[in-house]
Amino acid sequence: MRGIIFTELYELIEEKFGFELLDDVLMDLELSNDGAYSATGNYPFSELLAIVVKLHEQTEIPINDLLEVFGEYLFARLLAMHPELARTDNVLVFLEHVETYIHIEVKKLYPDAELPKFNIVSKDDKSFKFYYISSKKLHYLAKGLIQGLSNHYKQPVDIQMGLEDDEGVFFEVTRMQEA
Ligand code: HEM
Repeated sequence: MRGIIFTELYELIEEKFGFELLDDVLMDLELSNDGAYSATGNYPFSELLAIVVKLHEQTEIPINDLLEVFGEYLFARLLAMHPELARTDNVLVFLEHVETYIHIEVKKLYPDAELPKFNIVSKDDKSFKFYYISSKKLHYLAKGLIQGLSNHYKQPVDIQMGLEDDEGVFFEVTRMQEA
């Protein structure tokens, strides 16, 4: 998993819970390079999970909620890292681009990146339906990233996430009337 994911998670933990809690979380874990991740490095996914599980133990916040909040925060950070990959300001089209363009470019830039696949089920100007497919099962992170996308472009969406089945995790993202 790319180092930027770890460095941003640290930022978020420190911002929301303070440096001491971050320190507590990291102290008990045996992490690569003692947890001093470089944004451009690549590290075991298991370490990300270990940090999130520890954070859950310390805060009693459910793991899925932590992943979702993290995703919401992470979107803007990923976009800031590669603003040139944003080719539309329509959130539903953007979501489609994540599969058909953005993650493809990310893979060219970072060949060791491990990205999810979206199997697109249907799309129109009101909704976008797809299956999230990944061995990492980070669908709550995906949900948060979509919320972050919606926040960024100020286009409210309703996000319905199904249960995992043989095809992956079903998502239905619908644009809501702007207030
Ligand atoms: C709503 C928009 C997006 C969604 C739903 C999304 C979804 C995800 C998810 C769920 C992961 C975790 C890996 C997995 O599940 O297998 C991931 C990883 C990643 N995504 Fe996206 N993504 C979005 C936008 C972006 C953007 C704008 C960038 C811009 C650079 C980006 C770059 C990356 C990178 C670098 C990783 C880490 C890969 C690794 O650690 O090896 N994503 N994405």
